[in-house]
Amino acid sequence: MPKATVLVVDDEALIRWSLSERLKSEGYDVLEAATGKAALEKLPEGVDLVLLDYRLPDTDGVSVLRKIKEFDQDILVILLTAYASVETAVEAMKLGAHHFANKPFNLDDVATTVERALETTRLRREVRQFRSNAAKPYSLQRIVGASQAITSLRHMVSRVAVTPSSTVLLTGESGTGKDLIAKVIHYASDRSSRPFMNITCSALPEQLLESELFGHERGAFTDARMQKKGLLETADGGTVFLDEIGEMAPALQAKLLRFLEEKSFKRVGGSADIHVDVRVIAATNRNLEQEVEKHTFRSDLFFRLNVLPIVVPPLRTHVDDVPLLVEYFIDAFNTEFRKRVLGATPAAYALLQSYGWPGNVRELRNVIERAMLLSDGDRLDARDFSAMSRPLSAGHEFELPATGVDLEKLERSLLVQALRRSNGHQTRAGALL
Ligand SMILES: Nc1ncnc2c1ncn2[C@@H]1O[C@H](COP(=O)(O)OP(=O)(O)OP(=O)(O)O)[C@@H](O)[C@H]1O
Ligand SMILES: [Mg+2]
Repeated sequence: MPKATVLVVDDEALIRWSLSERLKSEGYDVLEAATGKAALEKLPEGVDLVLLDYRLPDTDGVSVLRKIKEFDQDILVILLTAYASVETAVEAMKLGAHHFANKPFNLDDVATTVERALETTRLRREVRQFRSNAAKPYSLQRIVGASQAITSLRHMVSRVAVTPSSTVLLTGESGTGKDLIAKVIHYASDRSSRPFMNITCSALPEQLLESELFGHERGAFTDARMQKKGLLETADGGTVFLDEIGEMAPALQAKLLRFLEEKSFKRVGGSADIHVDVRVIAATNRNLEQEVEKHTFRSDLFFRLNVLPIVVPPLRTHVDDVPLLVEYFIDAFNTEFRKRVLGATPAAYALLQSYGWPGNVRELRNVIERAMLLSDGDRLDARDFSAMSRPLSAGHEFELPATGVDLEKLERSLLVQALRRSNGHQTRAGALL
């Protein structure tokens, strides 16, 4: 934490000196002023708290207080006075004075008051920061990771977000964060105040999906008793996220393509063209190029969707992000479960970094959730992940070759491999062995 700056305002040099010395010894940066005017001139230097004498040669403390608060609401003011009447005290408090200290004062008391006041602002700032983050749950920072892979992913996402309407295609294994990225793109774009609508193409039979997407007119089919707007209409101005696009039936693929090209469509059973302005983000964990070759996915739709492709990497290719992700999820579950887990032990980190993560970040999240529910220690330890390490070794029993092994050579080779896999990190290598 940076040092706080305290401004001491008093016309008596001795009082200024004793307060300054004491506050400096507590580790604060201290500025001094002998008059109200001099005090106000110091504010631009960056002041966190003012110890303000009520009686000043050129003015009174309350007027200086008012001007300080006009300059910056967040500066804390503690009034020092020998003659506080109830009225002045009330007025000063109304104007935002943080505290009163009676003269003659005890230096210890003043130091404690200063410390508490600064702690309160620090907390207040933290809460404010927290609120503004909570208001934007899908900021770019929500994509956790410092590896090259995630850094360039974040960079790509931020660039895509500012292109106003191009179609985005997210590909990546299950659990890598495609849903998350779709939301980050939406909330980082100009469309953020408009709807984000989400539909999973594999979750509905073809006809239902069609009417969900495009809407339908009354009587369009047996159950269509009323006209209904589709997702594309509801999302006008915003974003439509089509998840598992690879599962979309061919007839619907054709309709979607037409919409992407013309920005207009007809409701099911309708004849009027409806124009909307939506950005489509599609996602799939399939390899669409292969689906195109197999003729299960239209090549023209693939090319139309693939304008801005984003490939989300599997977790095993950026395991250096595991510790950051673990900390992130621990924080999140601390809040959710009202726990105070501080982190994980080096052995636990080593174990988590050596695992293959077939279920990617989702699996890591689940593993942390389970460990936090079951553990009651300060830090998650390797044994809190015992359930996870079992499938790791299962089916991987080391088989002795018929020709036997040179045990010494094998040991050395394993050691070298472990060190290589853990980038020379001895604790991690140790955990692997
Ligand atoms: N880089 C990341 N930082 C923080 N959280 C992440 C990250 N990647 C994924 N997550 C989290 O992991 C979980 C799974 O991610 P998500 O649902 O976005 O995956 P997906 O790619 O859409 O998977 P599927 O293909 O199965 O739909 C979510 O809780 C998500 O918030
Ligand atoms: Mg998903």
